[in-house]
Amino acid sequence: MPINIDKEIEGSFQIIGGNFVNAGEASTQLKLLLTKLGVDEDIIRRTAIATFEAEMNVIIYAAAGRMHYHITPRGISIKVDDMGPGIEDIELAMQEGYSTAPDWVREMGWGAGMGLPNMKKNSDIFKIDSVVGEGTTIEMVINFPQQ
Ligand SMILES: Nc1ncnc2c1ncn2[C@@H]1O[C@H](COP(=O)(O)OP(=O)(O)O)[C@@H](O)[C@H]1O
Ligand SMILES: [Mg+2]
Repeated sequence: MPINIDKEIEGSFQIIGGNFVNAGEASTQLKLLLTKLGVDEDIIRRTAIATFEAEMNVIIYAAAGRMHYHITPRGISIKVDDMGPGIEDIELAMQEGYSTAPDWVREMGWGAGMGLPNMKKNSDIFKIDSVVGEGTTIEMVINFPQQ
């Protein structure tokens, strides 16, 4: 249980689709905040992986999005929603190795199809909701170890 969290902290970051130059900015800022708060290293690692993958998906697939975080003495809740094409078949998208990333994205090293599975793997609660033509919402909760 981190020592510095005695109240709730929340905030959000804008994510701009196609902005590969600043890719990882939101998840990096959140990681810095968690480090400052003295959060357990393993919790930071899991949060960083999950939020980075969610952020990259907004950058790769959507026009714009937002990452909202809410830190309490119990854990971290993250919501990433975007204005994008949405996902037609969520079950398929959740499969390891499934990717629709175009070649130019793959050439940058993205598109391994492991983002959504890794978000789920690193979260205690993972929810995905998507409406084709509107966008996608990812909600993740990572609990702090309780005493
Ligand atoms: N925010 C999103 N908006 C639209 N489609 C998405 C989004 N996130 C994921 N997808 C779809 O789900 C697929 C799998 O995503 P992911 O597991 O992160 O793998 P990758 O990004 O490497 O393709 C993507 O290729 C894409 O088709
Ligand atoms: Mg991805």
